Amino acid sequence: MSSTDEPQKLEHVVVKSTLPRQPLPLNVDRRPIITERLTIRAFDASDLDALHELRRQPEVMKWTMQGRIDHDKEETQARLDVFLPPNDAKHYNYAICLKETGEFIGIGGFHGRISSFGWPEVGYMLKREFWGKGYATEFLKAWLVEYEKLPREEIERSVDPRSVVPIPAGDEDGEKDCTRAREVLIAVTEESNPRSHNILRKCGFELFCTWITTDSKDPDGVAKVVLPTFRYLPAPRS
Ligand SMILES: CC(C)(COP(=O)(O)OP(=O)(O)OC[C@H]1O[C@@H](n2cnc3c(N)ncnc32)[C@H](O)[C@@H]1OP(=O)(O)O)[C@@H](O)C(=O)NCCC(=O)NCCS
Repeated sequence: MSSTDEPQKLEHVVVKSTLPRQPLPLNVDRRPIITERLTIRAFDASDLDALHELRRQPEVMKWTMQGRIDHDKEETQARLDVFLPPNDAKHYNYAICLKETGEFIGIGGFHGRISSFGWPEVGYMLKREFWGKGYATEFLKAWLVEYEKLPREEIERSVDPRSVVPIPAGDEDGEKDCTRAREVLIAVTEESNPRSHNILRKCGFELFCTWITTDSKDPDGVAKVVLPTFRYLPAPRS
């Protein structure tokens, strides 16, 4: 299903589903995720310089909601603080490093933001010099495995109806629970970012909605942006 709408207020419907249990594991309890070429690990206070370098690259930052590079290290420090204790239980975001050298090349995961669709949102960014080598795909595939393994809790929340994949009520007990839905992880992209679309498709996401809204990066608040939005359905837990 795909739809393009004018700038809008997203509609909402209340569903029952699951989400990773809060609080999320603390940084200190997160074992690094090791892939063929990457070490994906919890953030550390010493990541400031490397994160600042990443967030000073205009080619990278133009795809973020901020839309511009950080002005100074204080600004980057504020971003890093969001991923360090005592804030670590609210996000599932990781530093992406080269396995061989330990070099910090990017960040990715659930950064604590609930999308306007009502579900957690995933994001990722790599330093420009590491694009085009398959690292983001390698990261996302491995991160999703860990995300799916997190303990779940039952939730009831307001979500955009377009994102909903209903679970049919069981016949056996005659229950008519039409609000039960598959858990969803959202990725909001820009139409002009096909690299990101490719990564998501290769990692099992599907495009379910394309919408238009006011571009948060436009200082005048008039420019519009087209946002193909993808969803991933973590495997149901028994
Ligand atoms: C998006 C980003 C993480 C991609 O990282 P990456 O390591 O280069 O991605 P990968 O190499 O794993 O995959 C990119 C895919 O897009 C393809 N691709 C590259 N340039 C492309 C282009 N201009 N048009 C279409 N596809 C393109 C690649 O070929 C690859 O697909 P393939 O493996 O099937 O060949 C990186 O470009 C980045 O940090 N961008 C800035 C931040 C950003 O955009 N984040 C996402 C916001 S939704």
